[in-house]
Amino acid sequence: MRKRLTITNMKKMKQERNAISVLTAYDYPSAKLAEEAGIDVILVGDSLGNVVLGYDTTIPVTVDDIVYHTRAVARGAQNTFIVADMPFMSYGIGREATMRNAARIMQEGGAQALKLEGGEEIASDVEALVKAGIPVMGHIGLTPQSVHQLGGYKVQGKLDKEAEKLIQDAKALEQAGAFSIVIELVTESLATMISDVLSIPVIGIGAGRGCDGQVLVYHDILQYSSPYFEKKFVKTYADIGTTIRNAIHTYVDEVKNGNFPAEEHVFSAQTASIPALYGSTVADADSKETKQETVQPKKGVRLT
Ligand code: KIV
Repeated sequence: MRKRLTITNMKKMKQERNAISVLTAYDYPSAKLAEEAGIDVILVGDSLGNVVLGYDTTIPVTVDDIVYHTRAVARGAQNTFIVADMPFMSYGIGREATMRNAARIMQEGGAQALKLEGGEEIASDVEALVKAGIPVMGHIGLTPQSVHQLGGYKVQGKLDKEAEKLIQDAKALEQAGAFSIVIELVTESLATMISDVLSIPVIGIGAGRGCDGQVLVYHDILQYSSPYFEKKFVKTYADIGTTIRNAIHTYVDEVKNGNFPAEEHVFSAQTASIPALYGSTVADADSKETKQETVQPKKGVRLT
């Protein structure tokens, strides 16, 4: 079993050009499978609002939601570094409230680090959290919590002015003590330049090939949703949505046509189990003398 990475290991990975793999997870099985598959870092992203809770944006996601899901992920991936998102308006709302929310996600959720969206404007929060001993990952570029401010999910940093602001934001976060940043939906050239300029790992999503690592959403790489919307920056590694839909369809058919349960799915009664199940004393279920008519099977239990 691999040991959990540390933020020092991650910095070293950047120096050694050893790419960091990050995947979101939101529950016990997704976290366990990701850990078994060798993922470096798990992100309990507030994308859980979109892919698990059925919201249109990440804005409705609460601290309680993140705590609940992080706790499940922490149980499933005990040897993996877990970063949890601070959701919309849980930071930047005054130092005391920000620290209290951060403490909840760390203590109750069991994350090893927190991720916050924003640049220079949240640098003082990042600094305070880092001073309190919490590793912080920044998140710049397309920041989904500000989707309405940004006017939609669009590629960021295409214009010089936007690119300059993103470079300033990245530097401000590093300066404030962030151990890493996520850069989302920006041009490859800008993301590569920011990765080269910073000494902390830059993890890209829709940000091209020049970053120090990549992050994607669990449900995206597995097409685990319905309907599934193609995204240019995502690669499908398995089509679980179709597999699940087909499997459930077959199950429904088999229940209806009587092909399930079949012989191999049913239990045969044994003499000893009958009194335990039914509280009656039936001498020998297999013997001719058995008064089988006194046995009242529970609904749905078949005795053979
Ligand atoms: O919430 C999330 O999943 C994220 C990733 C897309 C980086 O922030």
